[in-house]
Amino acid sequence: MELIEVKNIVKGFTVVKKNKGLKGALTSLIKPEKSTVYAVNDISFSIKKGEIVGFIGPNGAGKSTTVKIMSGILHPTSGKVLVDGISPQENRKAVVKNLGVVFGQRTQLYWDLRLGESFELLRRIYQIDLKSFNKNMDIMSEILKINEIIDTPVRQLSLGQRMRGDIAAAMIHSPNILFLDEPTIGLDIEAKHSIRNYIEKINKINNTTVILTTHDLDDVEQLCKRLIVINNGGIIEDGPLDSIVERLAPYRVLIVELSKHCVDIVTPYAEIIKQENLKIWYRFKKNEITAAELISQLAQKLPIRDLSVTEANIEDVVRKVYRGVSNE
Ligand SMILES: Nc1ncnc2c1ncn2[C@@H]1O[C@H](COP(=O)(O)OP(=O)(O)OP(=O)(O)O)[C@@H](O)[C@H]1O
Ligand SMILES: [Mg+2]
Repeated sequence: MELIEVKNIVKGFTVVKKNKGLKGALTSLIKPEKSTVYAVNDISFSIKKGEIVGFIGPNGAGKSTTVKIMSGILHPTSGKVLVDGISPQENRKAVVKNLGVVFGQRTQLYWDLRLGESFELLRRIYQIDLKSFNKNMDIMSEILKINEIIDTPVRQLSLGQRMRGDIAAAMIHSPNILFLDEPTIGLDIEAKHSIRNYIEKINKINNTTVILTTHDLDDVEQLCKRLIVINNGGIIEDGPLDSIVERLAPYRVLIVELSKHCVDIVTPYAEIIKQENLKIWYRFKKNEITAAELISQLAQKLPIRDLSVTEANIEDVVRKVYRGVSNE
């Protein structure tokens, strides 16, 4: 069963056309000419209960706009979204009952209240009984260390503390679905770590479905089995992380250190991409030769002192996607 269905959504924003130079800028002020930019241009995907899906793509790709449409904050120009069978555009109230949303760039906490008071207010808004509230708070306290900051006014929280507070606030009504838009942006390693652990844990314990937008590839590597890559308002990849990496970054690199200089270091099985004194970097295709075979080929003619193999990773994929190269 699909929990979230996004069908052919398009979102166009009307913007004022910019004219060149100061004179042009002044003309646009007086007589604005309008045009439409498409932040999202025909995106479709579906997500099953319990999945953690990573949403990645360069700045301005359309990720946040998609998240806002899925949570009912924005209306699409066309297309349809269903969250557990309900349209967030038609019945946002029913959808948010089962949904937590966090925008890393913007807090949803009450600036003038202590964090604990914010939670109490939300508890009353959502009409959560004290018993389930406390049970929920226990899990959050343990991983997000909420008890350390519960008495601090929100405006005094550091970025990392505030983000932990924001996530806890989004999860206060124990929703089954969580949308996180850059939840680790600007955080130190420790704060990132606790947020990732929390996401992992609620997914494991409650089978919470998570959509995670991030530029931090460690987030993706630790949490997401599936990746949706967005660029220019469209989906360019959707599938298991492993197979996207395998397909878009099929290379591995064997780094060999020789015990003495050799003249003939080439091999038909790999390409030399770098050389530094006695160290040589051989790039080879995973599906054409195994590392063991390549090593044994090289060992026949080269005195090898040391070696290591590096795997292709998500970073290679992202670099490729962001550069706009899909068939290198
Ligand atoms: N309210 C708006 N009015 C006009 N244009 C908008 C509006 N919101 C977003 N856009 C444009 O839509 C495009 C997609 O924006 P969006 O915020 O969805 O990108 P993103 O993928 O989240 O990027 P980032 O990684 O920088 O957060 C951008 O070109 C942006 O300028
Ligand atoms: Mg964004």
